[in-house]
Amino acid sequence: MATTGAAVGLGNIWKFPYIAGENGGGAFVLMYLLCIVLLGIPIMIAEVMLGRRARENPIHAMLKNSRDAGASKAWAFIGAMGVACGMMILMYYSVVAGWSLEYVWQSMQGSYMDKSATEVAAGFGVLASNPERQLLWHSLFLLLTAIIVGLGVTRGIGTAVDNLMPLLFVLLLVLLGYSIRNGNFELGFNFLFNADFSKLTGDAILIAMGHAFFTLSLGMGTVMVYGSYMPKNSSIPRAVLAVAFLDTIIALIAGLIIFPLVFASGLEPGSGPGLLFETLPIAFSGMWNGSIFGTVFFILVSIAALSSSISLIEPGIAWLEKTGISRLFATCGLGLICWLGGVASIYSSAVFDTLDYATANVMLPLGGLLIAIFVGWKMGYTRVRKEISDIPALLFNIMFITLRFIAPIGVIIIFAHSLGFIA
Ligand code: PFF
Repeated sequence: MATTGAAVGLGNIWKFPYIAGENGGGAFVLMYLLCIVLLGIPIMIAEVMLGRRARENPIHAMLKNSRDAGASKAWAFIGAMGVACGMMILMYYSVVAGWSLEYVWQSMQGSYMDKSATEVAAGFGVLASNPERQLLWHSLFLLLTAIIVGLGVTRGIGTAVDNLMPLLFVLLLVLLGYSIRNGNFELGFNFLFNADFSKLTGDAILIAMGHAFFTLSLGMGTVMVYGSYMPKNSSIPRAVLAVAFLDTIIALIAGLIIFPLVFASGLEPGSGPGLLFETLPIAFSGMWNGSIFGTVFFILVSIAALSSSISLIEPGIAWLEKTGISRLFATCGLGLICWLGGVASIYSSAVFDTLDYATANVMLPLGGLLIAIFVGWKMGYTRVRKEISDIPALLFNIMFITLRFIAPIGVIIIFAHSLGFIA
């Protein structure tokens, strides 16, 4: 459940719909689903396994795993890149979580109630052009993250998330019902699931792959940390399949809520990062007790974001603690760096976009590629089979072959294709 908390976040509800919209829908969604199955699931099994073997923060976990496998210490680079990557993601993730807090506030005030769809959608533009307001919410969100992480009560929040996430799921279903009745469901559905490959650019394929990693929190040591808390006798493949399934379903439901509303209100599917905040308030504004539903919904989205933001900064804190720095000091230091990065992404959309692009589309897949190579080639069959012994040999062999060949080759081909090396 805690891993689901880290996986399910703004990536599912905010990012997936907007990048699907920007990249033409269907064919992009299909690529994303393929990447989840062929790259995400096997690499996630490998990453969780590395964590459970070592029971350490990502850097020390990779040092230990490479020592055991007789491989070079340089493999700890995976952990180091992960620590940096988590902080870089948090620099803009916290800004978006701040937008969600603003919409909690607006929902409570009923600001968007009884307005036309165009007026409601334009509300996001007002926020986007108000950096001071974004700064306020970004600071508040990061402060909340730092307090929870600094006090070391991340497990406490885990329990809270376990109870609240089912509620988020129920609310998503309510919104789905609203979209089916009041949106243009047919157009929305076709947009998401009708694959037109002529719209699929090399960059779109890279973004689909990057998002598969981002949404599963993969390739940066986060699931390694969660793996390190897993009991030895629990089944890694089963846990990973459950997380990947839930995570994907939630993203698809978010898409099925948003696009019917987009088409019914004459909005643009490719309107960018504001898409969620432009469309859902339209639904709430037309709903019975919409302001209450809106408030609860955006609170739950913010909590989902909080459980992910904790997992973005925790690997860095755990590593600093291990080097002898106090938890409080580590939290203040890393928190301050992320806060400054957030300020930069508020004032410059180029910083925001670059942080997003570099982390999701380059660093996470690179981390995943290295994990696949390490586990598939350096640890070797017997060691890995010993760790994952609870599935039938045939299934294990399929997984191992995917990890050894398909996942690394897949990532490399997509990298090469997007860089223009191959057509
Ligand atoms: N998976 C999270 C989401 O979809 O919102 C984002 C994320 C969290 C990415 C933690 C990476 C990570 F380590």
